[in-house]
Amino acid sequence: MIELNDVTKIYDGQTVPAVESLDLKINEGETCVFVGPSGCGKSTILRMINRMIEQTSGTITINGEEVRGTDPDHLRMNIGYVIQQIGLLPHRTVAENVAIVPRLHGWDKDKICKRVDELLELMGLIPEETRDKYPAQLSGGQMQRVGVARAMAVDPPVMLMDEPFGAVDPIVRSHLQDEFLRLQTEMRKTICFVTHDINEAIKMGDTIAIFTKGHLVQHGTPQEILSKPKNEFVRDFIGQDRVVKMLTLFQVRSIAKANPCTIHEDELPNIRQKMKEQQARGCFLVDQSEAPCGLIIAEDLERESDASQERLKELAFSRRGAFIDQHLLLSDALSYMLEWDTDYLGVMNGQDLSGVVSMADIRECASRKEGD
Ligand SMILES: Nc1ncnc2c1ncn2[C@@H]1O[C@H](COP(=O)(O)OP(=O)(O)O)[C@@H](O)[C@H]1O
Ligand SMILES: [Mg+2]
Repeated sequence: MIELNDVTKIYDGQTVPAVESLDLKINEGETCVFVGPSGCGKSTILRMINRMIEQTSGTITINGEEVRGTDPDHLRMNIGYVIQQIGLLPHRTVAENVAIVPRLHGWDKDKICKRVDELLELMGLIPEETRDKYPAQLSGGQMQRVGVARAMAVDPPVMLMDEPFGAVDPIVRSHLQDEFLRLQTEMRKTICFVTHDINEAIKMGDTIAIFTKGHLVQHGTPQEILSKPKNEFVRDFIGQDRVVKMLTLFQVRSIAKANPCTIHEDELPNIRQKMKEQQARGCFLVDQSEAPCGLIIAEDLERESDASQERLKELAFSRRGAFIDQHLLLSDALSYMLEWDTDYLGVMNGQDLSGVVSMADIRECASRKEGD
């Protein structure tokens, strides 16, 4: 869909290329995240794709059509662009800012008004409260939402997003990321997404392109990058917690095992036999309505071989938090295991205990993914 062939950019008056001999292909419907230290050429690549600047050599095509042969206004009207500093026009209202590209397309007033409200709502803003405000009256998070809404106004198939969530605090950023991921599963736009944050890259990218000093060092899926960093630079950029980061790529449900061993309070005296029969190292205490309320692990029983029923209940309740939603990540599971001092966690499907995940399963998964 977007293809760069041997692209080099040397800015006027510079001797060192900002981007050098870049070959990169981004498939239709894919989010490719450009990541790398400040000044490595990420924004320069975006600006070349929508022809705000021209490459010194090489070719850039979108759907097989060379960008350099396309009318720049037409090109930019069909590419959504979210710039690094949000770039809302300060003396225009939110609605006017979002309407810029639809106006260029010659849409009529009614269609524009409807679309503006639809986009504001899509981005989690209340149209009646937002549309007539000026950018200075918005919070950072609201401005970023408006910036993204503006870029999506005419539903362009291609989006260029330059640190789109860079100017907000981490909690708001995390919300914006989640919401955008949810939108993208429906939109399937082709997206170039720039960030300098490796965690954001891992979370947002179908693929990640890692740059340094104008050169593409490695391009691959998050799993490929994390399991097979190509060199020391990539390894350093990822950080010491490389394997834990890899665990952020998988949900607990992907490795959970069904039919967890469970027990009611009145059966507690038989727990040893039950766990032995089921070859379980962890057994979940459930109440009359089968709702999980605790966990007993084999180590408890080995340490306290003559524990009374009351004591067993106490031990179970001491791990009342050893349950995790099936959609959480393996890295979250690891954290819960450490917090609740257990190698086993119950996996919840809504209110139901649907499975069990173990430290051994996580280790097995990590080593398998490393080898892939
Ligand atoms: N308009 C410009 N004129 C000259 N040099 C520039 C210009 N814009 C960017 N550069 C240089 O090109 C390199 C890449 O910049 P940029 O693409 O903005 O990096 P990034 O977005 O990765 O931080 C940097 O060394 C920067 O100083
Ligand atoms: Mg930049």
